[in-house]
This record gives sequence, structure tokens and C-alpha cells, in this order.
Amino acid sequence: MTVALVAGGATGIGRATVRALRAAGTDVYLADVNDSAAREVADQEAPGRIVVGHHDLADRHAPKAAVDAALEAFERLDHVVVTAGLHVVAPLEAFAFEAWEATMAVNVRAPYLLAQAAAAALADTRGSIVFTGSTAAHRGSPGTFAYAASKGALISLTRSLAVELAGRGVRVNSVCPGWIDTPFNDPYWSAQADTEAALNGIVTRVPLGRQGDPEEVAALIVYLLGPGSAYLTGQSVVIDGGLLSA
Ligand SMILES: NC(=O)c1ccc[n+]([C@@H]2O[C@H](COP(=O)([O-])OP(=O)(O)OC[C@H]3O[C@@H](n4cnc5c(N)ncnc54)[C@H](O)[C@@H]3O)[C@@H](O)[C@H]2O)c1
Repeated sequence: MTVALVAGGATGIGRATVRALRAAGTDVYLADVNDSAAREVADQEAPGRIVVGHHDLADRHAPKAAVDAALEAFERLDHVVVTAGLHVVAPLEAFAFEAWEATMAVNVRAPYLLAQAAAAALADTRGSIVFTGSTAAHRGSPGTFAYAASKGALISLTRSLAVELAGRGVRVNSVCPGWIDTPFNDPYWSAQADTEAALNGIVTRVPLGRQGDPEEVAALIVYLLGPGSAYLTGQSVVIDGGLLSA
């Protein structure tokens, strides 16, 4: 039996990851704030079992509560996946202090606290962790101060945790997606005067000529969790259709 905690698994990349894991027979504890979307995921038939729980990862106590709930449900933990993320965009002088704090809480502090709470259980199973960074960690763009800083910090956190936990047989990696077609970018698209022109403008900058699908990121996450990547730790793997290489 293999058990994964997916924090932020109700929609987008997390939802696709839950599907891929359950299709392969992995049991999943899905922690999220979006209860209705989480219920939709839980209603899907799959070989792997699923338990969902409401956990707001902006709360400092929520990460440990999610790990405890996953262990309570399935009595072991092999994988922790963190896809929950917050992206606030605002001009520099208008960027709210609260937006900075909330972004850091969800995007950096929660992954750290999840790893801290899960370390002992993961050491028992020689398990693995995958965080979700972003190409925003590697390039600047206007208004994304907290988001870019949080994803850069997550990459550094990945390295430190990987070195810390290697001796206990636990691997830690991140994925860094580019433009992926999920609800995450809806606020960005709806803020554009001409959504279609904005989308065309972005995909023409992507060498592979399109946005990525959440399933494509999920496949990378599953690879990084599993035995095929047994000698890979401390890495942040960019999956962006070639955007950063162009
Ligand atoms: N979609 C993209 O283009 C893109 C690009 C780069 C990086 N990412 C990163 O990928 C990750 C997943 O994004 P996605 O595109 O699947 O977005 P999404 O909005 O579809 O999924 C995010 C999930 O996290 C949950 N979540 C958000 N805040 C939470 C909180 N406080 N507590 C618990 N759950 C919370 C949401 O309810 C949702 O289920 C994010 O970390 C994001 O930064 C996405």
C-alpha cells in the first residue's frame, strides 16, 4: 500500500496528480480549502482510496493537522505533494502587506511545516516530497513580488530539505511549471482587456506553442515521487514548453 498527502489537490495540477496517483492504486489524503471541488475529486471512481479534509494552509497549525489526519486515515505516508499556491498581482506601491504575508504563509511556510510534520512518517517508508515552484522563481515580471520571492524561497527550501532528509532515505524535489491551463490563471486572463490576444501573446513566446496541461505536470510529479527517480533529490525541474530556454 502506498499513501500520498496532496495539499491543494482539489483543482488544477493537484487534481490531475490525485487522479494519476489513484489510477496507479495509491491511496490519497486530499487537503484543500475548496470543499466542493474536493468532493468532486473524491466522487471519481479509482483503484486508490481517497479521504478529503478541509485544511486552510495559511493557518500555521493546518499543515501538521493535515499530516496527522492523513496518518489517521491510512496509518502510513509515502508521499507529500504540495500544489496549493497563492498568486497576488499588484503594482509595487499598492501591494498590500497582507498579500505578502498570506503568499509567504501558503507558498513557503506551509510546505516547510508539512515537511517538518511528515518527516518521521516519510523516513519510515523511505518516501518522497514534491513541491510546486514556478518559472516565476527564475524570471521577473511586474507586480508578482511576493509570488516570485515565495517560489524562489521554495526552491532553496527544496535543496535544504533534500540534504537534511537524504540520510533518512527521503527525497525532496520541486516542479517549476510555466503557463499551465488551470483555474489558477483565471484572474489574470479576466484582467486582460482582450483575453484572446493576451493568450496568443503568451503562447507565441512558448517554443512548443501552447500552454501545458495539468496532466503533463502531474506526470512529472508522479515520476519525481516514484522509484524511477530514486537518485534524484534537491532538484527543481522546469516544465514550461521551453519558455525559459527561449
Ligand atoms: N497554472 C499555472 O500556470 C502555474 C504556473 C506555475 C506554477 N503554478 C503553481 O502550481 C500550483 C498549482 O496551481 P494550479 O495551476 O493547479 O492552480 P489551482 O488554483 O487550480 O490549484 C490550487 C489548489 O490549491 C488550493 N489552495 C489554495 N490556497 C489554499 C490554502 N490556503 N489552503 C489549502 N488549499 C489551498 C486551491 O483550492 C486549489 O485546489 C501552485 O502552487 C501554483 O503556484 C501554476
